[in-house]
Amino acid sequence: MILEGTGSQLKTAGNLGSFMQKEIFEQPQSVVNTMKGRINFDNLTVQLEGLKDHIKEIQRCRRLILFGCGTSYHAGVATRQILEELTELPVLVELASDFLDRNTPVLREDVCFFISQSGETADTLLALRYCKERGTLTVGITNTAGSSITQETDCCVDINAGPEIGVASTKAYTSQFVALVMFALMVCVDRKSMQERRKQIMHGLKMLPDHIKEVLSLDDEIQKLAVELYQQKSVLIMGRGYHYASCLEGALKFKEITYMHSEGILAGELKHGPLALVDKLMPVIMIIMRDHAYTKCQNALQQVVARQGRPVVICDKEDTETINVGQRTIRVPHTVDCLQGILSVIPLQLLAFHLAVLRGYDVDCPRNLVKSVTLE
Ligand code: M6R
Repeated sequence: MILEGTGSQLKTAGNLGSFMQKEIFEQPQSVVNTMKGRINFDNLTVQLEGLKDHIKEIQRCRRLILFGCGTSYHAGVATRQILEELTELPVLVELASDFLDRNTPVLREDVCFFISQSGETADTLLALRYCKERGTLTVGITNTAGSSITQETDCCVDINAGPEIGVASTKAYTSQFVALVMFALMVCVDRKSMQERRKQIMHGLKMLPDHIKEVLSLDDEIQKLAVELYQQKSVLIMGRGYHYASCLEGALKFKEITYMHSEGILAGELKHGPLALVDKLMPVIMIIMRDHAYTKCQNALQQVVARQGRPVVICDKEDTETINVGQRTIRVPHTVDCLQGILSVIPLQLLAFHLAVLRGYDVDCPRNLVKSVTLE
């Protein structure tokens, strides 16, 4: 199903030409649905019903291990840092297929999370069975009530994003992200030292739907960028810290629906190899946000520019330092660091969508792929 024409006048409910585009534009509401009935913004509490009988056990555990494939794995990468901070536990993120290829030790004191939109992904399900046999507590994070993962885990959180039909996952990613942040907030509810941080994050969650709407309003601008890029063969997406996951996820969207070569590159690794790819012809997108990695990202930008790279920078709309150095920018609203990744990934979802349309591909049903990978 190919969208005919884009432009902001088209973006009203029921007036979008593909499931993927509709699902991207549903995100202001789908994140609300993930939070609905679970967050009390007045007394700053979070209650995930599915976890309430196990929360004490989770608070006592030794490690958290997050499992997933593709986009669901990226949701684990995106939230690892805030989970480490708020739970004060070691957090491992595992690609389910890679985990199964090893003979990986898991401990009875581990708590294992299985992140899956469909709840049916074979590798994630097999990793779940492996961990269950070894006596760990298993937690599902899914979008599909009644799925195998919801049934086989000890407890589960439904992300409530609503049905996702497009093969490329978009709204499920942002809802998985929000659900994992809510879990982190729930675990540290009694920690005095965390209350100020919890307040900041709660405020960010409250504002999130409006911030997402603001990012979506950049669609026409992003479509113009797609017109400049759609005949390219390759795109590199660079960032670090909270935004590395957005780079990986953006690159996956590009591969999946535009069939362009794309790589998500950790900016800290540039000098260890990827910098050799940069010249005046290589399309580069960089994510630079006002957080603890800002100075390091500015250094990476200088390295790219010094090799004649002409990156498009996704940045904070108030970051005049980046805006004034003459790079092309996509300016997104500022939010708390651990939620900013939601606002940096949406421009990449939109860009992938427009590139695929311009290249004449079916955005909802990319070649060689299915929505739910139920075979190993
Ligand atoms: O249903 P799941 O979340 O377990 O699916 C995992 C991956 O197959 C899935 O996220 C895939 O990477 C997406 N189609 C990417 O857009």
